[in-house]
Amino acid sequence: MPPRDYPLEPFWMPFTANRQFKAAPRILVSARDMHYVTEDGRRILDGTAGLWCVNAGHCRPKIVEAIRRQADALDYSPLFQMGHPGEFRAAALIAQLAPEGLDHVFFANSGSEAVDTALKIALAYQRARGEGHRNVLIGRERGYHGVGFGGISIGGVPATRKAFGNMLGRVDHLPHTHNLERNAFSRGQPEWGAHLADDLETRLIPLHDASNIAAVIVEPVAGSTGVLVPPKGYLERLRAICDKHGLLLIFDEVITGFGRTGQAFAAQTFGVTPDMITFAKGVTSGAVPLAGVIVRREIYETVVNRAAPDTVEFSHGYTYSGHPLATAAAEATLALYHEDKLFERARELAPHFEQALHSLKGAGPVIDIRNFGLMAGIELEPLPGKPGVRGYQTFLKCFEKGVMIRVTGDIIALSPPLIISKAQIDDLAGTIGSVLRAAA
Ligand SMILES: Cc1ncc(COP(=O)(O)O)c(C=O)c1O
Repeated sequence: MPPRDYPLEPFWMPFTANRQFKAAPRILVSARDMHYVTEDGRRILDGTAGLWCVNAGHCRPKIVEAIRRQADALDYSPLFQMGHPGEFRAAALIAQLAPEGLDHVFFANSGSEAVDTALKIALAYQRARGEGHRNVLIGRERGYHGVGFGGISIGGVPATRKAFGNMLGRVDHLPHTHNLERNAFSRGQPEWGAHLADDLETRLIPLHDASNIAAVIVEPVAGSTGVLVPPKGYLERLRAICDKHGLLLIFDEVITGFGRTGQAFAAQTFGVTPDMITFAKGVTSGAVPLAGVIVRREIYETVVNRAAPDTVEFSHGYTYSGHPLATAAAEATLALYHEDKLFERARELAPHFEQALHSLKGAGPVIDIRNFGLMAGIELEPLPGKPGVRGYQTFLKCFEKGVMIRVTGDIIALSPPLIISKAQIDDLAGTIGSVLRAAA
């Protein structure tokens, strides 16, 4: 391995145990299709699409070329009071993929920004329609909505709230839907738990009064807290309760968007249409940061048309809301999804993926396996008094054996690129199985 020509110390790594990593770094230097290459030349099978984002596979030539061409033609243009063709084209393409009626797109750069944007749109919409008193936002326990103050407040991840608290004052939370006693080893949507949506109507609405609630935000499948698949009927009930009481329903599809569940959005797979969808990650297959919010036309029209003429209707946006490189990457990525029929491919591969992973039942410390589309969670019994240690050790061993998995505590979360082959799925499951059996 060539010596590193850079120091490790100055970079403060995100969501990483810095001291542990810097003592034994794992450095990736290149990638192609389903594999990473490490600095010492080892090929690593990507079982996680990077961080749930590289849905089209790595360094796909058409995406690389589109970014290259755009960088040469227009590197940056101011995005306030100015436009460039790529942002309009990308917005139209995304709107075309979205559920019927959701046809306007606001761009941001990260999932966290998309979530903050969606919460602000909810407040702006309620205000514009004369319901400005509706400013309570409802999230869910074990929801992950990024790391902005909005996202951590409506989210339900103790580790991200521990140091920073709940800075958005007017928030509350639905209960999560994870229950191993009832639902362990469910394939696809669990049978038990639809009634947990009723908490919105039986507890939260009486507590806050519907007239004060602006919106409810959930991930259709919670990803980062361990792939929590919604029980059958749960999302439908949430939709019905929101409709009954005039609350907006936001699906955070930062992970589930762009084919992960076998259709463009999980909203379509589940047949439940929210009022807004947040997206990021897969929109450019991770190649350039891009994110955003897709909104129902009436939301756009209410905010925009009820503002005084010639005023900025929605005082929000980022320097890079629709950066030319990002929108070029998005156009190329969406074209590739279409040409290679990758959403259909995810749908077709899902039964094989399910079968391969559920074959790990009984492998060492496995206490649950759950899956939906091309995402799966494998929950491990924690080592006594050492939560997360078994998960991390499993991650390290798999990496040594040439397979990238992701762990969240003691839960393995899998979300391979949608180009994965059946043989590679078997390899992924086989490696995890051998590591778990050896550890047991
Ligand atoms: C559902 C969801 N929302 C928001 C985010 C935050 O995205 P980002 O890390 O791009 O800010 C994530 C990240 O994984 C996510 O899974």
